[in-house]
Amino acid sequence: MSINKQQDFGTPVSAAQQTVTLEIDGFTVTAPMGTSIMRAAASIGIDIPKLCATDSIEPFGSCRLCVVQIEGGRGMPASCTTPVAEGQKISTQSPKLADVRRGVMELYISEHPLDCLTCSANGDCELQDMAGAVGLREVRYNPAGENHLSAVKDESNPYFSFDPSKCIVCSRCVRACEETQGTFALTIDGRGFDSKVSPSQNQAFMDSECVSCGACVQACPTATLMEKSVIDHGQPEHAIVTTCAYCGVGCSFRAEMKGEQVIRMIPNKDGQANHGHSCVKGRFAFGYATHKDRVTKPMIRANINDPWKEVSWEEAIGHAASELKRLQQKYGKDSIGSITSSRCTNEEVYLMQKLTRAGFGNNNVDTCARVCHSPTGYGLKQTFGESSGTQDFDSVMEADVIMVIGANPTDGHPVFASLMKKRLREGANLIVIDPRQIDLVKTPHVQADYHLKLRPSTNVALMNALAYVIVTENLVDEAFVNERCDIESFNKWRTFIGQDMHSPEAAEAITGVPAADVRAAARLYATGKNSAIYYGLGVTEHSQGSTTVISIANLAMATGNLGRKGVGVNPLRGQNNVQGSCDMGSFPHEYPGYRHVSDDITRGLFEMTWQADLSPEPGLRIPNMFEAAIDKTFMGLYVQGEDIAQSDPDIQHVHAALRAMECVIVQDLFLNETAKFAHVFFPGSSFLEKNGTFTNAERRISPVRKVMTPLAKYQDWEVTQMLSNAMGYPMSYSHPSEIMAELASLTPTFAGVSYEKIDQLGSIQWPCNDESPTGTPIMHKDEFMRDDGKGLFMLTGYVPTAEKVTPKFPLILTTGRILSQYNVGAQTRRTQNNVWHAEDILEIHPHDAEDRGVNNQDWVGIKSRAGETVLRALISDRVQPGIVYTTFHFPESGANVITTDNSDWATNCPEYKVTAVQVTKVSQQSEWQKNYQAFSEDQLDLLAQGMAND
Ligand code: SF4
Ligand code: SF4
Ligand code: SF4
Ligand code: FES
Repeated sequence: MSINKQQDFGTPVSAAQQTVTLEIDGFTVTAPMGTSIMRAAASIGIDIPKLCATDSIEPFGSCRLCVVQIEGGRGMPASCTTPVAEGQKISTQSPKLADVRRGVMELYISEHPLDCLTCSANGDCELQDMAGAVGLREVRYNPAGENHLSAVKDESNPYFSFDPSKCIVCSRCVRACEETQGTFALTIDGRGFDSKVSPSQNQAFMDSECVSCGACVQACPTATLMEKSVIDHGQPEHAIVTTCAYCGVGCSFRAEMKGEQVIRMIPNKDGQANHGHSCVKGRFAFGYATHKDRVTKPMIRANINDPWKEVSWEEAIGHAASELKRLQQKYGKDSIGSITSSRCTNEEVYLMQKLTRAGFGNNNVDTCARVCHSPTGYGLKQTFGESSGTQDFDSVMEADVIMVIGANPTDGHPVFASLMKKRLREGANLIVIDPRQIDLVKTPHVQADYHLKLRPSTNVALMNALAYVIVTENLVDEAFVNERCDIESFNKWRTFIGQDMHSPEAAEAITGVPAADVRAAARLYATGKNSAIYYGLGVTEHSQGSTTVISIANLAMATGNLGRKGVGVNPLRGQNNVQGSCDMGSFPHEYPGYRHVSDDITRGLFEMTWQADLSPEPGLRIPNMFEAAIDKTFMGLYVQGEDIAQSDPDIQHVHAALRAMECVIVQDLFLNETAKFAHVFFPGSSFLEKNGTFTNAERRISPVRKVMTPLAKYQDWEVTQMLSNAMGYPMSYSHPSEIMAELASLTPTFAGVSYEKIDQLGSIQWPCNDESPTGTPIMHKDEFMRDDGKGLFMLTGYVPTAEKVTPKFPLILTTGRILSQYNVGAQTRRTQNNVWHAEDILEIHPHDAEDRGVNNQDWVGIKSRAGETVLRALISDRVQPGIVYTTFHFPESGANVITTDNSDWATNCPEYKVTAVQVTKVSQQSEWQKNYQAFSEDQLDLLAQGMAND
C-alpha cells in the first residue's frame, strides 16, 4: 500500500480577493493576486521542482531549483518567490531550465551521502525525488572533496534525530520554527560552505529552546530531521485522519500506519483548528496507547483489599449490573450515579448520561468540567445565553488587542499559542493578567504591553477596576450596548461599577497591581479596533470563578467586542473533549444542549425518545456524591475515563468517599488512582481504537477514527451499552453515527450535525441547524442567544476568598500545567515526555526561599489547612514574593492533598488556584506520601496477583 501524501503547493495561499489570469505551459490559470507562480502551477497539476519551498512557510528563494522562464522577461526567476501577474506566459520546462536544475541538483548530491537504499527517508525524501525529477544521472564533482559527511548526529531528542550529514541547508526547518511555531530555536550558523543548522547557540536539541513541536521535522525535505519511530519501523503505508486526544485545541492528525501500528502522527494540513501544526503531545506522545501498563482484561473483586480477578466481559458486566441493582434496592434509586469523561468521545458521554437518566432513573451524572470550566458554562449562559466561547481560533488573526487572563497558552494550548504569537509578531498588542510570568509575557519578538501581576484570588477586583476605567472615561461602546444589550441591566451595572470603590486606585490595595497600569490596560482594551479576551482556569478555579466570567462578559459587551472576527470571549478549555462532555448533558441539571431537567417540554421529548420516565430533579454534583457516600446514602459509582482520586480537590476526603462506597466501577486504560479504590474494572479503549467525535474549545466537532482494533475488544460506548442492557434498559446502537443522529434529533443546536456532514466539511462548529447549515464559527453576530436576544449585564461584587494568609500559612500556592505533561499525567507519564518533566516541582521566589534557607533542588514541605506534601524546590522569579506555584501531573506529588474544599459559589468548581500554605525545608516525604506509596504498591501487587492467577 502506498501512502496518500498531502499535496504541497510550495508556498502559502494568498488571502487576496482580487485575481489574475495567466498561462502556464499553455494552460490558463486564475489565481488570487500575490500567489506565487509555483503555487498557481501546482493548482493545475504542474509540479515545478523545488527544495527550499514548502507551503507551510513563506518562500525563501535559495535553492534555485524552481526557476522558470517568463515570456518577455529577463533571466530565470525563482517561481516560489515570483508572484503571478495578469497575462503572464510562463514556461516551466525547457532545455535551458533543465540544465540549470540538473546543475543545482548535482551540487547538492555531490556532498550528500549516497546511501538512499538504506536511508530511513527512502521513498519519502524530496532530494531523492528531485534528483529523479530533473533527470540527474551523474555527479561530476569529487565526492572525496571537502564535505560534511562525517558530521555527528544529534540524538538528544527522544522523538527525532538530527543528522547534519544529510542537511542541504535549505533553512525550511529554521523558518518553520520561526513562522509556524514561533520559538526561534534554530539558526543557520556560519557562512557559505560552513553554514549549518544550529539549535540555539550550537547546542544539542535537548539543551536548546526547542519545545519539540515537530514543525521542523515536518518541513525538512531530507532525512536530516527524522522521526525516530520511522527510523525504527520504516515508512508508514497508509494514513487515517483523526483528532488529537490531549488538549482542547483539537488538532487534526493523519495517523500514519503500518498495518495496525502507528508509525507517526502527522498534523493534518487541512485541519481547521491547527492548519498542519502540532505540539509535542499530539505529534509524538502516543506511545501510551500500547504501553505495557494497559489493563486489557475486565476484573472484579469484592473488597479493595482483595486481589483483582480477571473475568470475561459477560461476567464483569453481569456483576456490575447486579451490584448496581442491589444497591438501588438496598439504599434507594438515587444511591448510584456516574461520572463522564472529557477524554471520551461525544457519543460515549451521551450514552453515559443516557444510561444514568434512563437506566439508573436519576440525574446523578457529573463530569470533570465541574472542576475546571463549570463557571464558564454558568457565566456565559447567564450573560450571552450560550455557555461556550464565541470565536473560532482563526479569529485571533484579526485581533488588534489580545487580553490573556489566567491562562498559559504556550503550555496549555500550544498550537493555538503559536497562532496567537504570529498575530502578536504582526503587531497586535498584548495584555497578560496573571500572578506568574508566563512565557507569553516575553518570548522571541513578543513582549506584553502590560503584565498585570495580580494577587491570586483578586480577579474580580481587577476586572471591576478595568470596567471602572471604561465606564468613567466614557469608553463604553454606546451604540453596541443600546442595540444589542438589555439596557436596564446595563444602567444598573454602569451605576454599580462606577462607584469609587471599584477605581484602580482603590483596587490596588487588593490586587497589588499599580493603578496606572490598570488604567492604561483598560484604555488599550477599550480603544482597540478589535479586542479579544482569552482566559483559562486561572479565572474559573476560584470561589468567585463564575463572577469573573461574568465580569469578562460585561467588559466585552460594554466595549462592543462581540459578534465579529477578531474579538470575543474565549475560554481556553483544557481537555480534548471538555466542551463536548458538557454539551452532551453531563451536568446533573441539564440534558444535552444545556436544557434544564425540570423543563417539562424538553423532558417530555427525551422521555418519548428514550422510552423512560425521567426525573425532573437535578441530581448530585461530584462533591455532593462524595458527601453522600460518606453519609452512606450514595453507594455505587460508574466512572468512565476520569481519575477523580487524583484530580479532585481535598484528596483525602475523596479517598474516604471512595472507600465508603460498596461498588466503584472504573473504566480506564490503566489501573489509575481511582481504580485502586474500585471493585469492578472495565478496560477502556484509547482514541486510536474508537470511532466518534470530539468537540474542541471553539465548538468544533471533529472526527475520531478507529485506526486499530481495541486492545480489550470493545470501544468504550459498547461497554456502556452492554451495562445498560444488563441493567434492563435496552440500547442497540451498532455505530456511534447512530448515537450522533439521536443527539441531533433531540438537540436544536446540533440538529444539522451528522457523520456524513462532518466527513464532507472536515469538522463542524455548533450551532449547526437550519439557520447555520454548515456551522457557526462566530457566535452572537446579530443577537445574543438569550430568549430576548439581548446581552445581560450582571453585577460583580468582589467577595474575598475565605482562604486567608496568616502567619501560620503566609504564602499562596497556585497551580498550573506544563507543556510536556497532560493533566493527571496517566498518558504522558507513560511516554518519553518524562525527559522534560519527570516530577512536579515547587517554584518559589528567591526572597521566600532565602527566608526559609531553601536552595534549588531542596525538598520542601508544603503545608496547608487541608494537608501536607513534599516537593523539590525551584527558585524562580517567575513567581512573585508571597506566591508559590506547582504543576499537578504526578499522583505522588499530592498537589490536591493540600488544596482546600472551597469552591465557586455558583457551580462548586474547586478553588484550586488559591491555597494558603507554609513552606519549610524538610528531609523526607510527608506522612500522606508515605501512606499513599504503601497503598499504591499494595494495589499494584493486588493487580499483579490477579493477572498471575489468570
Ligand atoms: S521541534 Fe519545533 S521548537 Fe524544536 S526546533 Fe523544531 S520547530 Fe523549533
Ligand atoms: S535540517 Fe532539513 S530543513 Fe533544515 S536546513 Fe537541513 S535539510 Fe533543510
Ligand atoms: S495543541 Fe493540543 S490538540 Fe494540538 S497536538 Fe498539542 S495537545 Fe494535541
Ligand atoms: S524552491 Fe524556489 S528557490 Fe528553492
